[in-house]
Amino acid sequence: DETALVEQFEQVLARHDRIEPRDWMPEKYRATLVRQIAQHAHSEIIGMQPEGNWITRAPSLRRKAILLAKVQDEAGHGLYLYSACETLGVSRQELTEKLVSGQQKYSSIFNYPTLSYADVGTIGWLVDGAAIANQVPLCRTSYGPYGRSMIRICKEESFHQRQGYELLMTMMRGSDAQRAMVQESVDRFWWPALMMFGPPDDDSPNTAQSMAWGIKRDTNDELRQKFVDMSVPQAERLGVTLPDPDLVWNAERGHHDFGQPDWEEFRAVVTGAGPCNAQRIAHRRRAHEDGAWVRDAATAFAARSSAEPVE
Ligand code: 3HC
Repeated sequence: DETALVEQFEQVLARHDRIEPRDWMPEKYRATLVRQIAQHAHSEIIGMQPEGNWITRAPSLRRKAILLAKVQDEAGHGLYLYSACETLGVSRQELTEKLVSGQQKYSSIFNYPTLSYADVGTIGWLVDGAAIANQVPLCRTSYGPYGRSMIRICKEESFHQRQGYELLMTMMRGSDAQRAMVQESVDRFWWPALMMFGPPDDDSPNTAQSMAWGIKRDTNDELRQKFVDMSVPQAERLGVTLPDPDLVWNAERGHHDFGQPDWEEFRAVVTGAGPCNAQRIAHRRRAHEDGAWVRDAATAFAARSSAEPVE
């Protein structure tokens, strides 16, 4: 009966074990996972656009090859995550339709434009760095397929972060113009990167429940703090300043104190009024429509081959 099922579910969570697709789970647990994993998958796919903008303009064949590999990885991350989401009884067709119709979200960070080539490095360093800070704990998330997809994604994400940091380090050892380009890019991406971790905990309707279910292992503010503490020494080694006058080491806390992102801007971007929201969704919709013939051909082929008698 349901009481025994709830008990079993809670015992699995209590011993930090995994809930698997065939296990009983509360409907709200399933719905929260579909929402978060779908949003995560959409973020990977939409995230291909800002960087893809620089593939044809990369300054060397080496940089172009690295960027191509990274953008392809993001597509793969999206596929792992859509597959993990499908184990919860939703189809990627349905999820794509919810994305292009605005019923499901993707990470706010990808609604900002990539205005200079230094952005390719800054996205690798800060955006993929923030993604790693958020995704490493998700390797231990209570839902099996989601946690296992994170293990491989985190390995590839580390390559993304290192290549971005190396790109910026190379530019910082270049000309004054290159150094200025890196600083301008960091100034534009620092605050949006902090917003990736979500609203402050006391303004986060989902965090408490997601922590209780072991979907999240850390809160939004805990991960944001970890990311700031990790980024400050990296910025110093790079020779860039971070655009936050309140950023200072607090020996008592053993962490950096820092200013608050502009949460009005965050809300605007999350609700569709960011600089690139319309462009990102239009691009995704067009790509989905342009790919319809491939899906139709694959479906027709599958139908014909299953109808044909096996020799
Ligand atoms: N962008 C867009 N929406 C966001 C957001 C962000 N950065 N942060 C929060 N939100 C939304 C939430 O979805 C929620 O809205 P909803 O209930 O309608 O879905 C609302 O704002 C309140 O936020 P909560 O903190 O209550 O929501 P969550 O508990 O879902 O926490 C989260 C938000 C921390 C982003 C969590 O969903 C999460 O950890 N998701 C998985 C990680 C992820 O999506 N990362 C994407 C980063 S980009 C990436 O990985 C690509 C890489 O290759 C760079």
